[in-house]
Amino acid sequence: MIGRITPEFKNQLLDRTDLVELVGTRVSLRKAGQSYKACCPFHGEKTPSFFVTPARQTYHCFGCGAHGNAIDFLIELDRLSFPEAVEELAQRAGMPLPEDDATARGPDPRPLYALLAQAAEQYQRALREHPEREAAVAYLKRRGLSGAIVKRYGLGLAPSGWSFLLQGLGRSAEQREGLLTAGLISERDGRRYDRFRGRIMFPIRDRRGRVVAFGGRVLDDGEPKYLNSPETPVFVKGRELYGLYESQQVLRQPPRLLLVEGYMDVIALAQFGIDYAVAALGTAATPEQIKRLLRGAPELVFCFDGDDAGRKAAWKALKTALPLASGQQPMRFLFLPDGEDPDTLVRREGKDAFEARLAQAKLLSAFLFEHAEARHDSATPEGRAGLADEVQGLLASMPAGSYREQLTAALARRTGHGGGPQQAPPRPAPRPWSRTMSLTPLRRAVALLLDAPERAALVAEQPADWRELDRPGIRLLAQMVDTASAYPGITTGALAERWRGTEDESAVRKLADARLIALIPEDGRAPELLGIIARLNRDAAAERRAADIDRRWRARDGDSDTTG
Ligand code: UTP
Ligand code: MN
Repeated sequence: MIGRITPEFKNQLLDRTDLVELVGTRVSLRKAGQSYKACCPFHGEKTPSFFVTPARQTYHCFGCGAHGNAIDFLIELDRLSFPEAVEELAQRAGMPLPEDDATARGPDPRPLYALLAQAAEQYQRALREHPEREAAVAYLKRRGLSGAIVKRYGLGLAPSGWSFLLQGLGRSAEQREGLLTAGLISERDGRRYDRFRGRIMFPIRDRRGRVVAFGGRVLDDGEPKYLNSPETPVFVKGRELYGLYESQQVLRQPPRLLLVEGYMDVIALAQFGIDYAVAALGTAATPEQIKRLLRGAPELVFCFDGDDAGRKAAWKALKTALPLASGQQPMRFLFLPDGEDPDTLVRREGKDAFEARLAQAKLLSAFLFEHAEARHDSATPEGRAGLADEVQGLLASMPAGSYREQLTAALARRTGHGGGPQQAPPRPAPRPWSRTMSLTPLRRAVALLLDAPERAALVAEQPADWRELDRPGIRLLAQMVDTASAYPGITTGALAERWRGTEDESAVRKLADARLIALIPEDGRAPELLGIIARLNRDAAAERRAADIDRRWRARDGDSDTTG
């Protein structure tokens, strides 16, 4: 865990980050005047309308409107959470993260990551060089895996001996301790030995691509079929998703993510060109995993066996997913034919047929009612009451909104419950771009400041009467002038960053959109800002005069009251 990320830390971080360089690692930028341009990584396009402006430290797409700073870029493109984006940038910039107390107490995890990476390498080397490689390679071939896929997923071989890793990596007492902590060796009666023996090794990578654990499959039909790393300081099972990193390496914008059960399923699907499958690690999906999946793609499909056990597991997943079901992103449930898993099915049917199944997978709502209705007899009032109670209980766990209302209405129809559908409050239609263009002067001032924070110095030279005005937006403008003045040289990106997580965040985000002021010529922008300030000052003066007059009148009335 990282500690509190202060505005100061974010400032420094953005100061040490070069957005052009960061973006340049993802798309190829070409110089265009003061900016760099590229084809937008956020939407498909053939002619570049995506601009990165070094002076502002922001990016902007005139096609799709995507804009933001380096943190936004990672959040949007890599679908990182805010702390993850900060962590990533800090790592790039070589800045130590603020530590929270827990981190401060815990040991440094970096040697552990290094050890796990070395172990993955050793296993991979064994698959190429170890005397036992032939059986392993034959096994992988039998399962239809190409060399390219084996490489992409970093598969390796743990030979059958008891001390392959111990000898390779456990030379010092310290290293042996590390291997123990990493779950790579076990200890019994004071003797230490390799945990994984005679297995195909699947490295489990976290979302930054670091190996954090392994799964190992036996080459014969020994037990257990799969052996996984235990939880360690760097491996929490309910958090990682097998195959997510590998998927994101090849698919920037996956059409969906598919959650399957096994390592082999993920790999077989990838082998057949379905690069968006991931697996929870031998357990039911946790809320954290589902959240991560929803961040990763517009649609989520859960895949289960068609048998009773599969239905039961699906129902469990549905219950976990409901509190996260906002209706913005479809969730579907795919049930496989008896005796098949994704691995066998995709081999038999191929990619297109498998994807056709995905397209027809049951929507969450369909599965919900189907499964609930199967357990209640809707021909009787008792059965309908039971159904109503059960489903209502489930719907209560959903976030409030249209989706929940729709399901509530659907339940009412099915159970003949009175009350009818609840009336949803009308939602405001998304505002067309032309309407957002007409900005109030105050908002235009904020936009002009965000455009070039050094303009704050010009404002600071003016009378400050405008600060007394009691109008929405004055507070934000004042804060922005103050922040920009306090940090000379602050960029647009770093300035806007200050409002992340505040009530003004979305306003600031909108106002940082370069399209808002694109129509004002460059050399007209400072005069425009000063003009707005001057007008606000006149308004303030007029209000003060009015208040003075008002006060005098009231004073006179007061006089007449006391004297009359
Ligand atoms: P399955 O038994 O369905 O195996 O386990 P599979 O994935 O089809 O494997 P192959 O095709 O025989 O190689 C599904 C998943 O359950 C977990 C693993 O994550 C596995 O991929 N599992 C299974 C274990 O963790 N341990 C086990 O002993 C078995
Ligand atoms: Mn299988």
